[in-house]
Amino acid sequence: MLRSLGILLSALWLAACSDDSAPAAAADVSQARDGAQLYRQYCVTCHGSGALGAPKVGKEHRLYWSHEIEEEGFDTIVSEAIAGINSMPPRGGCFDCSDEEVRNAVIYMLQLSGAK
Ligand code: HEC
Repeated sequence: MLRSLGILLSALWLAACSDDSAPAAAADVSQARDGAQLYRQYCVTCHGSGALGAPKVGKEHRLYWSHEIEEEGFDTIVSEAIAGINSMPPRGGCFDCSDEEVRNAVIYMLQLSGAK
């Protein structure tokens, strides 16, 4: 009797354990926020107005961004946005943004600027 209770308890424990971890990992992936939303929340303050010397976003600044992509490459631009550079704060001030989310915001900035 005691022995089967032990087996039952460990089965419950295993079940509880896998219940806990699986959905959390799945949620992290599906919850990457949209670049447009993050841009409006965090990046537009500087990149919409040019505050602190931030390169502005918009079709009229397409050449600036196209040049950046050609000179540095998209991946470098994204790493700099994640790490921060000069007056550009790490992750654009979105401290709870994942790398993927910063990347989404950069992609959105490039789209707004018509650069690819
Ligand atoms: C506090 C102002 C500020 C905020 C907020 C901000 N930036 Fe910036 N950003 C800057 C400045 C200033 C630069 C220019 C840095 C330099 O090259 O000297 C810059 C540069 C960049 C660059 C170009 C990097 C390169 O390689 O030249 C990217 C991409 C960028 N920001 C993305 C973002 C994203 C995405 C967000 C929002 C998540 C964001 N920024 C929020 C100020 C800001």
